[in-house]
This record gives sequence, C-alpha cells and structure tokens, in this order.
Amino acid sequence: MKYVIGVDLGTSAVKVLLMNNKGEVCLEVSKSYPLIQEKSGYSEQDPTEWVGKTTEALTELVRQFDGDAESIEGISFSGQMHGLVLLDAEQNVLRNAILWNDTRTTEQCEHIYDVVGEERLLEITKNPALEGFTLPKLLWVKQYEPDVLARASVFMLPKDYLRFKMTGAIHMEYSDAAGTLMLNVEEKKWSEELCEIVGIDSKLCPPLVGSHEFVGHITVQFADETGLAPSTKVFAGGADNACGAIGSGILSEGKTLCSIGTSGVVLSYEERNNRDFQGKVHYFNHCEEHAFYTMGVTLAAGYSLSWFKDTFAKDEQFETLLEGLDNVPIGAKGLLFTPYLVGERTPHADSMIRASFIGMDASHKRIDFARAVIEGITFSLHESIEIFRESGKTIDTIISIGGGAKNNTWLQIQADVFNATIVKLSSEQGPAVGAAMLAAYGSGWYDSLQQCADVFIQEEKTYTPIRENVARYNELFQLYKDVYSQTKRLNEGLKSFRT
Ligand code: XUL
Repeated sequence: MKYVIGVDLGTSAVKVLLMNNKGEVCLEVSKSYPLIQEKSGYSEQDPTEWVGKTTEALTELVRQFDGDAESIEGISFSGQMHGLVLLDAEQNVLRNAILWNDTRTTEQCEHIYDVVGEERLLEITKNPALEGFTLPKLLWVKQYEPDVLARASVFMLPKDYLRFKMTGAIHMEYSDAAGTLMLNVEEKKWSEELCEIVGIDSKLCPPLVGSHEFVGHITVQFADETGLAPSTKVFAGGADNACGAIGSGILSEGKTLCSIGTSGVVLSYEERNNRDFQGKVHYFNHCEEHAFYTMGVTLAAGYSLSWFKDTFAKDEQFETLLEGLDNVPIGAKGLLFTPYLVGERTPHADSMIRASFIGMDASHKRIDFARAVIEGITFSLHESIEIFRESGKTIDTIISIGGGAKNNTWLQIQADVFNATIVKLSSEQGPAVGAAMLAAYGSGWYDSLQQCADVFIQEEKTYTPIRENVARYNELFQLYKDVYSQTKRLNEGLKSFRT
C-alpha cells in the first residue's frame, strides 16, 4: 500500500491527513493555535506556531501509523490564503503574520485604487483591492513599520512558509499567489507594472510553481523530528479554497462548491481566463493547471457560529447547542442575523459593517438565535450565488463541505435557501483531501486530478429543495438584504466606540 499526506493549515488549526492509494482516509491528527487580535480589525498569528503545531501533528500521525514510513511517498498542503509572512535575509520571521481576516488596510486599498486605477487593477489581477489581500498588508507595513519592510528579503503566504521550513526551498504557487493582488492572473506571472506603481520591490516576490509540482524532499532534520522518511517528496499545494474545490471534485465547468469553514465561500469552476465579473467576485487560478475559479466570500461563516457558541455556550458541544434546530420554524420566529462580525467581502466589500440580530422578542430562546445565525450565514452565501446566476451561470447542484455539511438540518436549509440540490460527500475532509490529492497526482499515481477524484471522492447523500420552504426563504431573503443598507450608517457611528 502507498500513502500520501495532506496538510491543511487553517486559521484555527492544522489538520494532517494520511490517505492511501485507494483514496481512504487512514489517520487524521489536528492541533489548534490561537488568533492574536490586539485591536478591533486586527488578526495575526505567529508563523513559528504553525511550524511547531504541524511538526507535533505529523509526529503523532507517524507514531500512530503501523506501516513503513517510506511508504508515505508524498506530502502536500492546503493553506489559509492571503496572510503576509515577511522573512529577513537570514530567513527569520520579521513580525507576526497579518491574516486574511485582518481588516486594518482600508487606507492602503484606497491608495491602490488611486495610483493603479480600478480598471487597470482588474485587468491585471482580475480582483478588487480588498483589505484581506496581501498587497494592502505589504503597503501597511511599508507605511507603519518601514524598518520591518526595509529588512525583508522575501514575502510568503502561510503554507509556503511552512513548506519552506520543511524543505529549505522558497516558492509560492499560483492558486495562492492569485490572492496577493500582485499576480497577473491571466498570464501567471508577477506584475512588475503593479509592483512599480505601488512602490514594492518585485524582488520580494518568491519564485512561482504549479500546485502539483515537486519542490524538494523534506530535510533530514524534519525527518528526524517527525519520523517521516527523508525520501518523502514535497509538492507545492494550493490555497485552501482551491484545495477544497479539488477535494470535492470541482474540476469541470458547471461544478459549484459551498464550503463553510471559519470563512464561507461559494466557488464555481471556470475554464476561461478572461470572463468579466467586474470584480464582484474573486477570480483566482485553480490548482488544476490552466483552470480558474470564481468565488464569493463570507468572512465570518463558521466563525459566526463558533463565536456564538464561545460567547453563549462555551462549555457545550455544537451538537448540544444545535439540539432542536429543526423544530424552530423558518425565520427563527422573526429573528434575522447578518454575519458581519469582522466586516464583509461579498457582495459588500465593507470592513466597517458589523453583525446584527434584528427582531429580538421576549419569547426567543437560545436555539432560535442559533437558527437565526445559521440562516444568516446561509443568506450571506446566497448573495454570492445570486451574483453567479445573474452572470449567466447555471447553479442547480452544489457540493457542500465544512461545518455546514455536518448538520442535516443545515444541509436542508442550504437546499431551500439556494434553491439547488445539495450534495454531501462521504468523506468530509475538505481542503486536506485536496492537498493529499495534489501529493497523489504529483507522485504520479494518476494521469490527472480528475482521475484521482474518481478514486478519492464519493457522494453520500443529496438534499433537494422543498418548494414551500424555497418560497418562504425567498421572502425572508429580501428582508435580510435590507439589513446591510439599514445598518451601515449606524455601524459607521459606532466605529469610534470599538477598541
Ligand atoms: C478567501 C479567504 C478565506 C481564507 C480562509 O479569499 O480569504 O476563505 O482563504 O482561509
């Protein structure tokens, strides 16, 4: 039997997954790490913590594995996107990583529009300037910590830094590079033009590689620390959303994914490199060569539910928190939630907006709030689906993964809100499976990712929309959409009270 490992470097934890050549998940280990949130809008992590926790997780996984370590042929990665890691000339980390959900960079986004122009930015990067992307973070460091940037020799993204610590080789791959706002997405090369206009030295950009490309073996030191064999081949990997797409078989036109992790995304495969969505959704390179995907993002999707649990039911399990969810009627007895806990991306690129519960009533119980949170997250994702449908895409079947796929009631809510058939997969491992598939394909086990998907991915169950529920949710969705504009001014006023 041959094996590969997929490492999913997420926002709250790292998960390592051992899969065999039959596409079976054999072992799984996860280790969590904290977010550092010094101020409202700030979100950072210590990159050395990612390496430490991944090393621990892999060591535990190898210890549990009863086969020969040499039969683990390859390892690849899925990573939280956009986070800025800066290294000095000796390859030491210069500051904490500034993460994708950090929204301190509104000023830098405006500056990018001023100097590059919205139209030119879209032509080159296919994306708007959003606080979460990497270039605004680089410009923030340049403005507020100039000494740090002056000492930087290279910038990296989270999983690229982790891979560097395992191999000694510095690379960035296309699917993650697309989220920096410095890549010419169509031509797959760094934009010298953009770097020059915004005043960032293009020498800071690492060499680019494809997601399934072999980038080296693990170092002898890393092999010693973890028990992995020094012959283990390392493949570049991909952005978490692109890996979630691979791991769900989103590998041909017409396939759509709804993934609810800390953030939530609706993602659709795109074979063309030049469709125009006017920057309303993200447009990134896929991990599959020559392919792309478009995506709408809800910043606080699973995060809204975990925030709710941590704040109001800290010592309980999610199962207990959600007990009785299906007995609460559609609309949570008149309670609406908007999931803008950390601002929003799609369809409102707005770092200032905050979440609301509208319609609280003395009769409401905690489970009604939980239902409202779940419906609000789903409505937010539906706004992305609306954009895709309006652009002419047919979305009638959606693969659902992540937290939203763990609960039957939520899966039915997705079918009813999205008015589409929802497919649940049998092995619900999301981006980590995609990473393992990149290692399997990179190791030469299959001729294509699609062939690998045919072995690794199985559908378990489908949920079809119920006509009356679709109509009821459609009515509620119109009210949901109003909450943004009705609370925007209020939230701007509240800004000075945020610490
Ligand atoms: C996508 C995004 C998030 C992160 C989560 O643009 O910012 O989905 O990738 O890890």
